[in-house]
Amino acid sequence: MSAIASVLDLVKNYYMEEVVVPALRGVSLDFEEGDFIALMGPSGSGKSTLLNLLGCLDRSTSGQYYIGDEDVSQMDDDQLSEIRSRYIGFIFQSYNLLPQYTVVENIEIPLLYQGCRLNEQTQERCIALAEMVGLGDRIDHRPTQLSGGQQQRVAIARSLVNDPHIILADEPTGNLDTQTSDEIMRLLRKLNDQGKTIIMVTHENDIAAWARRAVRMRDGRIESDVRNDARPARAAIPAPPTLAPSDAVAITRPQ
Ligand SMILES: Nc1ncnc2c1ncn2[C@@H]1O[C@H](COP(=O)(O)OP(=O)(O)OP(=O)(O)O)[C@@H](O)[C@H]1O
Ligand SMILES: [Mg+2]
Repeated sequence: MSAIASVLDLVKNYYMEEVVVPALRGVSLDFEEGDFIALMGPSGSGKSTLLNLLGCLDRSTSGQYYIGDEDVSQMDDDQLSEIRSRYIGFIFQSYNLLPQYTVVENIEIPLLYQGCRLNEQTQERCIALAEMVGLGDRIDHRPTQLSGGQQQRVAIARSLVNDPHIILADEPTGNLDTQTSDEIMRLLRKLNDQGKTIIMVTHENDIAAWARRAVRMRDGRIESDVRNDARPARAAIPAPPTLAPSDAVAITRPQ
């Protein structure tokens, strides 16, 4: 695997009037293409700060950030939003769906931000994504008419609409019960098996167990970084009931 993204000595300070809050104190990491990384660590250790920087939602105080060969840390706001829409999909703990829009319209939103004209083709793509996450029979529902797990499925479909290289997820199962969390993790795992690079923040060991690599942070630094050899083989995981059998076919990739 080759590095799809890397950060080098990344520092992030938040400045609040007289007080400087050092959120990242020099983080260096390589993210391999096709990997599935769980970012763990205590509250306040800098996980969301790092994820926001990786997602080009914020700028570091110092240090470098490369996506492929591009030095993202030197880019202006327009270039950053271009990178965001070209390379990155986001999934949040609280789904962040727009309540007035339907499932399909919510999935379309990143295309609108990208300045894309919506037409029959884009709509078909969004319906296909809704079907892929098991919501083919809910495309005209609004978020309040869906369960938490279904709302997170919409958010996952929305994160895929730009065909991103990297999916960033901040506690994607944080609001969900155990069974629903497992369904969401199976879906993320399936995307990873299809080649998507996923970087996911979680507090929970059993959620992190779905990832290929666990990076622990403490006080704005990397505390440990281990590969998860115990991750169950794909064949051992039953396909979620909403996925078509053809979707559940194992895809073998080099580790
Ligand atoms: N916008 C902000 N302004 C000032 N300080 C901030 C801001 N965002 C985060 N911090 C501080 O930076 C540090 C890291 O915060 P961060 O949100 O990255 O932690 P986290 O590891 O995601 O925690 P949690 O598990 O609670 O979500 C904390 O001390 C936090 O108080
Ligand atoms: Mg956080």
